[in-house]
Amino acid sequence: MKGVGHHRERALMAIGRTKLGLPAVLFGFLFFIALLLGPVLFIFKDSSGDAALTRSRLMEMSDDETELRAMPHGLSGESHASSIPFQILSWKPRALYFPNFATPEQCQNVVKLAKSRLRPSTLALRAGETEEGTKGIRTSSGTFISSSEDSTGTLGDIENKIARATMIPRDHGEAFNVLRYEIGQRYASHYDAFNPAEYGPQKSQRIASFLLYLSDVEEGGETMFPFEGGSNMNIGYDYEKCIGLKVKPHQGDGLLFYSLLTNGTIDPTSLHGSCPVIRGEKWVATKWIRDQGQGFI
Ligand SMILES: *[C@@H]1O[C@H](CO)[C@@H](O)[C@H](O)[C@H]1NC(C)=O
Repeated sequence: MKGVGHHRERALMAIGRTKLGLPAVLFGFLFFIALLLGPVLFIFKDSSGDAALTRSRLMEMSDDETELRAMPHGLSGESHASSIPFQILSWKPRALYFPNFATPEQCQNVVKLAKSRLRPSTLALRAGETEEGTKGIRTSSGTFISSSEDSTGTLGDIENKIARATMIPRDHGEAFNVLRYEIGQRYASHYDAFNPAEYGPQKSQRIASFLLYLSDVEEGGETMFPFEGGSNMNIGYDYEKCIGLKVKPHQGDGLLFYSLLTNGTIDPTSLHGSCPVIRGEKWVATKWIRDQGQGFI
């Protein structure tokens, strides 16, 4: 018996060595690894599945606005609820970013419209300032275009959307100032609102500015807020320096910021400028929004 058992054992070992051999060892090893990693793989699979689900749900929500309950509306109201996505960039100054505010086609239309009309940009001069003395502060080229001059209707559509985004009526906006900054061109830091102490009494004041970036810029050309959050205010800031919060232009994106505080005085942190373009070209359409209607609608 003992001998037979011994022989059977040897025979089994022999089978193991000859028939299973290296492949069996490898297979066993892989099986072991699979057992170890299996749960980890499942966790990854689950979490990525969840993320995909969440993403698709989020997309459904922003695409399908009929799910939002509409209310009875007034004479000038709208029949449905809709949203314009934005990101708050800063509370000091109040600055909001609107990704994909306009389509690439809309941006191209505006650039085409402006291209043949560009002139060197000018400045509103303070008492005692001269054009010669302020050379270099604003070196872009630009033109004013009102939406009524645009037969494609693009500027009118953009104006309507700006009015919806700001809840400031459309006729409070000045005509679009479409600007081109080439390499090296910039706008030193300044305020869009007019301080009556410097510029004399004003018929109306600029409340807010909406910048629509009409092009990408390869490098430079950011909109900067040097005093954002109260920083750099006591360093004797050089108005030509590109510091503080910087917003990189992307075609179709919008930037809104308020020049006035809620009590009507100029927000010192709304100081801003355009950093020099280093590579590429910057196109931007600016709409200055005033506290009084302009009476053109
Ligand atoms: C307006 O508000 C700012 C910030 O709260 C304050 O510093 C300033 O004194 C106010 N000005 C007036 C005229 O009320």
